[in-house]
Amino acid sequence: MFRYLREYRIADMKEMMQNTRTPHLRSQASLAGKTAVITGATSGVGLSAAQELARFGGDLVLVARNERKVKQVIQELQGSFGCRAQYVIADFKVLKEVKLACKQIIDEVDRIDILINSAGIHSTRKRYTEDGMESVFCVNYLASFILTHRLIPKMKRQASARIIQVSSQGHRFNGFNVDDLNWEKRLYTGLRGYGASKTAQLLSMWEFAERLEGTSVVINAMHPGEVRTNIGSNNGPLYAFYHDKLLWKLLKDVKISGESIHYLAADERVAGITGKYFNLTHLEKPAPHALDRAAGAVLWKKTLEMTGLPDEV
Ligand SMILES: NC(=O)c1ccc[n+]([C@@H]2O[C@H](COP(=O)([O-])OP(=O)(O)OC[C@H]3O[C@@H](n4cnc5c(N)ncnc54)[C@H](OP(=O)(O)O)[C@@H]3O)[C@@H](O)[C@H]2O)c1
Repeated sequence: MFRYLREYRIADMKEMMQNTRTPHLRSQASLAGKTAVITGATSGVGLSAAQELARFGGDLVLVARNERKVKQVIQELQGSFGCRAQYVIADFKVLKEVKLACKQIIDEVDRIDILINSAGIHSTRKRYTEDGMESVFCVNYLASFILTHRLIPKMKRQASARIIQVSSQGHRFNGFNVDDLNWEKRLYTGLRGYGASKTAQLLSMWEFAERLEGTSVVINAMHPGEVRTNIGSNNGPLYAFYHDKLLWKLLKDVKISGESIHYLAADERVAGITGKYFNLTHLEKPAPHALDRAAGAVLWKKTLEMTGLPDEV
C-alpha cells in the first residue's frame, strides 16, 4: 500500500482533487442519425448515459442481462424522448453470451457510432463464474473487452466513431497482477478486485488506442464521478447499510455521469482525442501502475487467450 502511495506524485493527486471539484463540461451536440450501443443501461451511470444520448436524438442499442428491466427502460426512454431503441440480452458473467450478443448486434444493427461500456460490479467477496473466471474481472473487464474488440470493425465503417470505457478512480486501489489475473494466488479484497479490473480496462485501452491509430475510431476512458447508483447492492445488508445510510449523502446525482458521457461521445471539443483518461470531462493522469505498458502488452496477450479473440482489431 505504502509503495503505491509513494509512486504518486503530489501534483497528480492535486490534479485529481481539483478535477473532482470542477464542474463537468456540458454539450449541446446533436446525435440525430447516430446509433449508440450502451451496456449497463438498466441502472445508474449507463441509464443516465442512455437518457442523455436519447435526449440529444441518438438511437440506442442496450445490452442487458435482465429482459424485464431493459424493456421497462426502453419504454420509459421512448415515452420521454421518442427515441428508437432496441435491446440485446447477455449476462456478462457468461462470455459465450457476450459473443452471441456481439454477433446479434453486428447482424441486426445498421451502424454503430458510439459504444459505451458501463456495465460493472463491485463484490466484497471473491466469486467465480461458471466458467471459472473471477466475477468482477469477468464482468468489468473481459466482457467489455470482447464487446469492444468485436464491434470495432463495424465502427470503422463510420467516418468517425467513439468508444467510451466507463472507468473508475477505483483503479487507484490497484490489485492488478498480470501473473494472477484470476485471483488464485493472492488474498482478495473487494477494493483490490475492483481496482484490478479497472486497471486492466485502462491498460487494454492504451493497447486499443494504439491499434486504432489512423482509423476513424477513437477510444477514451472516463471516471463517472462519485454518484448515487445501485453499485454494490449485491453485497448483503452490512454493505447496503454503509452504502445507503453513510455513503449516499456524500454522493452526487448520477445525471453528471450521463451529461459527461454525452459530452465525450458527441462534442466537437473532444473530436479526434484518443487514448485518454477523463475525470468526468476533465483530462487526468491515471495512477502509475495503470500506465505500465509492459504489463499492458502481457495483459493483451493473455486476454486474447482467455477470450479466444485474434490479435488484430
Ligand atoms: N457509482 C459510482 O460512483 C461509480 C464510480 C466510479 C465508476 N463507476 C462505474 O460505473 C459503471 C456503472 O456502475 P453503476 O454505478 O451505474 O452501478 P449500477 O447502478 O449497479 O449499474 C450497473 C449496471 O451493470 C449491469 N450489470 C451488472 N452485472 C451484469 C452482468 N453480469 N451482465 C450484464 N450487465 C450487468 C447492471 O444490470 P442490472 O440492472 O441487471 O443489475 C446495471 O445495468 C461501472 O463500470 C462502475 O465501475 C461507478
